[in-house]
Amino acid sequence: MASYSEYRGALHRIIIDEEKLANFYVPRKLPHREEHLRETIEHLKPVFQGEESIIRTVIFDGPIGTGKTAVAKSIGNKLGEYVEKKRIPPIAYAYLNSQSISTRFQVLRMIGRSLGINIPIRGFSTQDVTEYIIKFLDKNGYNLYLVMDEADILLRQKEGNKILYTILRLNEIYGKRRFGLALVLIFRNYTVSSEYMDRSVQSSLVAHHLKFNPYTSKELEDILYARIRDEGAIREEAVSEDIVSMIADAVGYDPSTKRGYGDARMAIKILWFAARRAEMEGRDVILPDDVRYVINRDVLPTIYDREFLEKLQLHEKILLLAIARTLVLNREKAYVSMGMVKLEYEDLCDRYGIKPLGHTSVWERVQKLANLGLIEAKVAKGYTRGRTTRIQIPEELGINRVPLELLEKTLLQLIEQEISRRSSL
Ligand SMILES: Nc1ncnc2c1ncn2[C@@H]1O[C@H](COP(=O)(O)OP(=O)(O)OP(=O)(O)O)[C@@H](O)[C@H]1O
Ligand SMILES: [Mg+2]
Repeated sequence: MASYSEYRGALHRIIIDEEKLANFYVPRKLPHREEHLRETIEHLKPVFQGEESIIRTVIFDGPIGTGKTAVAKSIGNKLGEYVEKKRIPPIAYAYLNSQSISTRFQVLRMIGRSLGINIPIRGFSTQDVTEYIIKFLDKNGYNLYLVMDEADILLRQKEGNKILYTILRLNEIYGKRRFGLALVLIFRNYTVSSEYMDRSVQSSLVAHHLKFNPYTSKELEDILYARIRDEGAIREEAVSEDIVSMIADAVGYDPSTKRGYGDARMAIKILWFAARRAEMEGRDVILPDDVRYVINRDVLPTIYDREFLEKLQLHEKILLLAIARTLVLNREKAYVSMGMVKLEYEDLCDRYGIKPLGHTSVWERVQKLANLGLIEAKVAKGYTRGRTTRIQIPEELGINRVPLELLEKTLLQLIEQEISRRSSL
């Protein structure tokens, strides 16, 4: 098989536009989410039409890869076009991902940025910035469309409730409401996450609730075909119907058995990687064997996507690597203990010449990994000794199971990259 760089240089036989297969790409059409788009717009419409003294909120609630971010972003993109054509009054659009924010100041800076205001990191208080932004919106007659993604993570952060409360009250902080706010809050599991909500937030949160269900095989087929035919990401002749149904069946959710992922991101990724494999082997069609190979070895469940893992802090990456390693070394065990993980973690730190974190910090990081859904950590009462923490990688996450070796390899690369970047500073 050719190396990746050789492959990059070679002519694409199957993939026409790689960007259209990437995570961040928002397609023009979203099959099976037309109703979600319509309902969201309907609910937020007064704000989009320029009404100034209101807040309208829609909660998106659904598991991984069900189109929540895509729907929210696609509305943001459309608003931009409408404003340009002067079909609606000016509206600013800010997209915030909770993984990259942890303070109210950061949220306000991001909102500022969407308005074209650059707020310096130092020199202003949160209150100054809030006031400035509100005055700006008020003076210029702007409304605001704000998407708060991965709100489950937000609520588990120290300042999470404060941040949410500030957002919910943003347009009425200084007396009467100065602008209209259309808010989309995105959750993977609202029922569980809302337990982290303070009463003050709960009582200010009046929202329209939209459920995003995992996609069935049939729905995933339509999504894959749309990516191939309408978006032109992949040459149509290279993909037979069999290939599309094979991928859709592997990932699709079956409501009667409640099994299957229903994750569009994963389905698209399998198609993409299978196409890549076929190209690397010099073929111009994807074969069932490419799909099988990719499913068994090449794809990690969405929560372990490289771009998500990249956002973890260095010690969290090392800890996750330590967990994956310990699990690989103890295949016969369903879970490993905190003690075993700590040993491996300290070993890894030693190898990289990094000072390991102390017990409490390690424990906090393990909790964070668990909150992100990357691991399961349960405190169990041991038979012989006191309480122990059992750690595992949730198995049912993979199509077959999480390929731990691939997780290990990915983390190793990311850690080494980060360390060499640091030492070259
Ligand atoms: N109905 C759809 N039609 C076309 N593409 C879709 C559809 N739903 C999702 N996708 C694609 O699948 C991928 C995952 O979708 P998205 O990012 O919106 O999922 P999500 O619900 O936000 O998941 P997560 O909770 O993991 O953030 C994206 O690349 C998106 O473009
Ligand atoms: Mg998302």
